Amino acid sequence: MGIDVIKVRGEIPLYGKVRISGAKNAALVVLAATLLAEGESLIENVPRIQDVEILLALLRGIGAEVEWREENTVAVQVPDGIRTSVPYDLCAQLRASNLLLGSIIGRKGEAEISLPGGCAIGSRPMDLHLKGLQNLGYETVLEHGFIRGKAVAPRGGRIYLDFPSVGATENIMMTASLTPGTTIIENAAKEPEIVDLANFLNAMGGRVRGTGTDIIKIEGVPRLRGIRYAVIPDRIEAGTFMAAAAITRGEVILENVIPTHLQPVTAKLREAGVKIEEVEDTIHVRTPADLHPVDIKTMPYPGFPTDMQSQMMALLCLAAGTSIIVENVFENRLQVADELSRMGARLKVEGRMAIVEGVHRLCGTCLRATDLRAGAALLVAGLGAEGESEVTHATHIYRGYENIIQKLADLGAQVSAAYE
Ligand code: UD1
Repeated sequence: MGIDVIKVRGEIPLYGKVRISGAKNAALVVLAATLLAEGESLIENVPRIQDVEILLALLRGIGAEVEWREENTVAVQVPDGIRTSVPYDLCAQLRASNLLLGSIIGRKGEAEISLPGGCAIGSRPMDLHLKGLQNLGYETVLEHGFIRGKAVAPRGGRIYLDFPSVGATENIMMTASLTPGTTIIENAAKEPEIVDLANFLNAMGGRVRGTGTDIIKIEGVPRLRGIRYAVIPDRIEAGTFMAAAAITRGEVILENVIPTHLQPVTAKLREAGVKIEEVEDTIHVRTPADLHPVDIKTMPYPGFPTDMQSQMMALLCLAAGTSIIVENVFENRLQVADELSRMGARLKVEGRMAIVEGVHRLCGTCLRATDLRAGAALLVAGLGAEGESEVTHATHIYRGYENIIQKLADLGAQVSAAYE
């Protein structure tokens, strides 16, 4: 069986401009939320990545009419008779398929989706999603690997999330938008993608207030109507290009970004010595010869994003000193350390903590991407390493990065994709 490989030659400074795509995690939830709308939704700035294509296949699978219009615009029309059961085979390919729970229940009053199960970065329970829906008067059961939800006495309710889960906050927001009465989510997630979802729901006629704080208030409305909406830029893609620019000691201008969304990342890169200038919707990155070590703790937003932790680990392998990284969001997200060690990095993992002792150089070699962000981190490491690296199982990378090969090549990287 063949495997996807990305070949990259390291130590070539990246130089030039790169346009950042629409945010994967915002596009996925906004597309899921189109199921709530009557009439056509036109979603712009949608990245053409594998996770989005799988979600679109899921939407088609339950009867929605879905079509790419222009390069990055998707049209979705949802007939009243959509199916409420989501097929297992597609659910199994996309963890974010769990977002269809909140949108299908919101629209149809019942839903059946396959449980996402664990993955390379840790177990992915849905207890908080279910607790939320139960508080809104929906009965939920877990049977034969499926979650079944059904309206019993739907009405707004008050929900306290034990952890500010992004997915649970989103599912509750979607269902509550079409559930009569007022819903209050306490200890809600505050990620920019949550604010984007609220903006989309409100533009469709919804009444969501307070996103970006930890208390969200949703007044249910009888119906939502399809609209045209552009999703926010991808802060994690932007952060990945910043790490790539920094590890190659390059100079890169990122276009189409919202710099405030990147504050937790830019703060740490600045601490490492990277020069960052923000002008409107662009970020200019320059790197001095020496990088300083920094300590990082991943936290829900506005803390340092877990989705940027692996790429920062790759960068800090070449810092002049010892950095400490603590992963607080997912229990098993430090395993890229093993692959980085094979490049000559000095790393030690103890539980949720990685100790990264900077070295002078990394050596290119054959590497295996185990998940999306680990794959991105290996690409970053390969760009900074001596000689050639091959990142295998690159499919993980294509799940979340649009035109990654072309974008890097346009910045001067020697990079190519192969199927071996
Ligand atoms: C989303 C993002 C993902 C990001 C993550 C954290 C999407 C499609 N994915 O994932 O890229 O890494 O946020 O920023 O937007 N948890 C529970 N019970 C629950 C739900 C979650 O214990 O019911 C735990 C999880 O196991 C995990 C933590 O909460 O340890 C964070 O999960 P959550 O915020 O829900 O992440 P996702 O929405 O799955």
